[in-house]
Amino acid sequence: MIKNDLFLRALKGETVERPPVWMMRQAGRYLPEFMEIKEKYDFFTRCQTPELASEITVQPIRRFGMDAAILFSDILVIPQAMNIEVQMKPNFGPYLPNPVRNRKDVSEVIVPDVEEALDYVMQAITATKEKLNDEVPLIGFAGSPWTILCYCVQGQGSKTFDKAKEFCFTQPVAAHELLQKITDTTIAYLKAKVKAGVNAVQVFDSWGGMLSPTDYQEFSWKYIQQIVDALKEETPVIVFGKGCWFALKEMSQSGASALGVDWTCSAQNARYLTGGKITLQGNFDPARLLSPPSEIKKMVTQMINEFGKDRYVVNLGHGILPNVPVENAKAFIDAVKEYKLAH
Ligand code: CP3
Repeated sequence: MIKNDLFLRALKGETVERPPVWMMRQAGRYLPEFMEIKEKYDFFTRCQTPELASEITVQPIRRFGMDAAILFSDILVIPQAMNIEVQMKPNFGPYLPNPVRNRKDVSEVIVPDVEEALDYVMQAITATKEKLNDEVPLIGFAGSPWTILCYCVQGQGSKTFDKAKEFCFTQPVAAHELLQKITDTTIAYLKAKVKAGVNAVQVFDSWGGMLSPTDYQEFSWKYIQQIVDALKEETPVIVFGKGCWFALKEMSQSGASALGVDWTCSAQNARYLTGGKITLQGNFDPARLLSPPSEIKKMVTQMINEFGKDRYVVNLGHGILPNVPVENAKAFIDAVKEYKLAH
């Protein structure tokens, strides 16, 4: 049904001519056509207007021809739907004026009817599917419960998420209550997205690497596993944990179709830890897209040779940076499309 199904075949572990490629945060500020829309509409208006969200989603596909599109939205629409106010402040990032700090705050957090509260996301999926015309698959996503908790408790971005960790370690009962509410909402949300038409889902555990391996099991992985269990029969699930290479072995036994890796973990180590059996996705250092295009191309070819062309999805190790020149992003995508074995 999907004309270019390279990405879905790689997720199944099938042998492919070349690995598929997409970039985390591929719709974003490095694109002039994105900036044009950004100047006219604020962040959540862009997320909540299906015509805008679908247009932004297909912009990078039109320009570069990646093998998968990812719906323009944000992980923070989940806390918003759960009755927690979230603002996106220009030049600051997410800001939650009333962060969750105790058990009473947790009791006021709701598990919403997602099909109602996040109907605009489902409409954006419908609009995007029409624009994509089955050319490439569409990825839906959500934040991991731990990563969402980080913002709900900290109230903003942070280098350490110290308040989120303090909350978990001093009020573990309240923390687990909140994590379970987020998990229940996320499962219903991702199922609704699949029903609306996405072809795969990715869970972003952007701040999993803030936790020690033991705490990671208790406060993050346990809940991601619930999400994988609930979704894996319906759609391929990709789990991206930034800084979570220490959990790759356990992740590889979870039922997920693929695992994202960041650039601090070598291909060899990631393959070793996952037993060579599961599809891996990553892991180009986003800052390396600032190197000259010819160097980017060489490095991408080398990266594919290291991961191997099968059971592999080429991606960055985290989101693309706003200051990446468009021609450098193009070199990254082109290098994969031009890939031939034995370089
Ligand atoms: O990948 C895509 O192209 C789809 C769109 C997407 C956005 N956010 C759009 C966005 C995705 C997949 C996300 C996920 C997201 N959002 C994550 C997980 C991935 C990651 O990068 O770790 C996180 C942690 C967030 C929370 C968030 N949203 C932050 C920290 C910020 C500010 C970042 C910054 O650089 O200012 C956002 C805002 C945001 N989400 C922007 C975009 C394009 C930039 C702001 C804007 O466009 O006005």
